[in-house]
Amino acid sequence: MSLKILVLNGPNLNMLGIREPAIYGSNSYSALVEYIKNHAKASEIDVTVAQSNHEGELVTMIQQALNVYDAIVINAAAYTHTSVAILDALKAVGLPTVEVHLSDINARDEFRKWSYVSLYAEKVICGKGFLGYAEAIDYLKEKLN
Ligand code: DQA
Repeated sequence: MSLKILVLNGPNLNMLGIREPAIYGSNSYSALVEYIKNHAKASEIDVTVAQSNHEGELVTMIQQALNVYDAIVINAAAYTHTSVAILDALKAVGLPTVEVHLSDINARDEFRKWSYVSLYAEKVICGKGFLGYAEAIDYLKEKLN
């Protein structure tokens, strides 16, 4: 049976291609979803990609991953820097988790350097654009297969 990975994207990532292209690039969110799905297919991973602008919805999706998925890849976007609730949900579910950011959060505003998600995630990949998601999937495949 193939590995099941849930890829979660947080607020404003649905605006990719429109929002701050100098930082996030000119490719759309649907291009990101296609990129992730193609990479997962080539790696024989069963992937679900979801996005929400709502903190509680992300918490619920993390909770529902229990006993369904083998691992989580999460770009919690702005909630990365603010959400104890998302951190607690990840800890509650206890699945192997990789944190991804399109931009290099350590080379931007001071407030982006702090990540609640990093207190749980076993790996952080940032500043690599779409490629970061592929690297996260590859890391989890290597670890869990
Ligand atoms: C982001 C970085 C966050 O600081 C920001 O709030 C985002 C996107 C990234 O992918 O680079 O919305 O997570």
